[in-house]
Amino acid sequence: MESLISEWGGESVIIRFDRPTSAWMIIAIHSTRLGPATGGTRMKPYPNLNDAVEDALKLAAGMTYKFAVIGFPRGGGKAVIAVPHDFDNNKRADLLRRYGALIQQLGGLYETGPDVGTSPEDMDLISETGEPYVFCRTSEKGGAGDSAPHTALGVFSGMLAVSEQLFDNPSLAGKRILVQGAGSVGRILINMLLEADTEVMFSDVDQDTIYHFRNTLNLTYIPAEDVLHTECDIFSPCALGGILNRETIPRLECRAVAGAANNQLAEPADALRLRDKKILYAPDYVINAGGAIGIVGLESMGWSVKEADKQVMSIRQTLRQIFEVADSERITTDEAARRIAESRLAGVAS
Ligand code: NAI
Ligand code: PHE
Repeated sequence: MESLISEWGGESVIIRFDRPTSAWMIIAIHSTRLGPATGGTRMKPYPNLNDAVEDALKLAAGMTYKFAVIGFPRGGGKAVIAVPHDFDNNKRADLLRRYGALIQQLGGLYETGPDVGTSPEDMDLISETGEPYVFCRTSEKGGAGDSAPHTALGVFSGMLAVSEQLFDNPSLAGKRILVQGAGSVGRILINMLLEADTEVMFSDVDQDTIYHFRNTLNLTYIPAEDVLHTECDIFSPCALGGILNRETIPRLECRAVAGAANNQLAEPADALRLRDKKILYAPDYVINAGGAIGIVGLESMGWSVKEADKQVMSIRQTLRQIFEVADSERITTDEAARRIAESRLAGVAS
């Protein structure tokens, strides 16, 4: 744990043990250089505290880069609520209220939204004690609701840049796109792709979801074990992170990777492995930034729905710029995105 934190490069980590549930609350503040640390709350069981802290630290750093690369006035943070494997869901509401009180104590240093395992309804509960530092409450409670539609719009816009780069043509019509994970983001993305006349394939592990997309929408279902070696133009990871690594990359049969999942690369060297295989990689923290910037813009910057959509769709231009820098500097797209983010971070006094 000591080296994990000392080598991280972030600002602070707050860890609280919640005695009534035996859950751990971890809030990682990676950077407040561009604004208050902002990022979702991930709630799920972890094998141990170390893994939960590691996830929070990595995700928080991703948020710093996400906002910086887009030039959005927010810093990076993330929270993990590591619940026990036998967590009693009847205790959820009170746990979230206690977590809201912790956010309140931080007085605006960290602002949160949903992530894997939390929903707008959970944000309503957190905001009972944590307001005004909570995004994505339900519309009944005055919030902008789920971030998934903006995230999906951003990923779709990013895919236009990917297509332009690969085929000199932004049209996705007729392209074969494999979406891994037809959850909140993936299912909206799939609908947008179908409207764009894309040949969509999907994978999921949830039986109801598989049934819906395979039997109702007649989409091609790819079993989880076949995803990596399925031939396609764009592989779109929209489930969990860490799936691009030294074992999986050699098996990929796609021309590009462009999806919503956070932390897709297991380690930075994986960006090089993708480039060596001539696979174009849209850095995850760029292409999945739409949810955070759309919602924060709507809820705290006075953006209209139209403005939010416009800003989210500008992910296409940001990616275009990243692809140009990567080409001209002969570096990976991940490195190009990092350079743009770091120059923005360096340009602001600490
Ligand atoms: P979700 O939990 O609603 O959906 C995930 C889907 O992936 C579920 O349908 C699940 O059954 C499926 N899945 C799980 N393991 C799988 C596997 N091995 N193979 C295929 N499918 C699998 O999550 P959501 O909100 O759609 O987010 C997806 C990813 O995008 C996450 O990594 C999240 O951190 C990231 N993200 C989400 C944002 C949002 O606004 N919701 C914003 C930015 C990133
Ligand atoms: N889950 C979002 C992300 O990873 C976090 C978020 C959503 C933060 C909405 C603020 C508002 O980008």
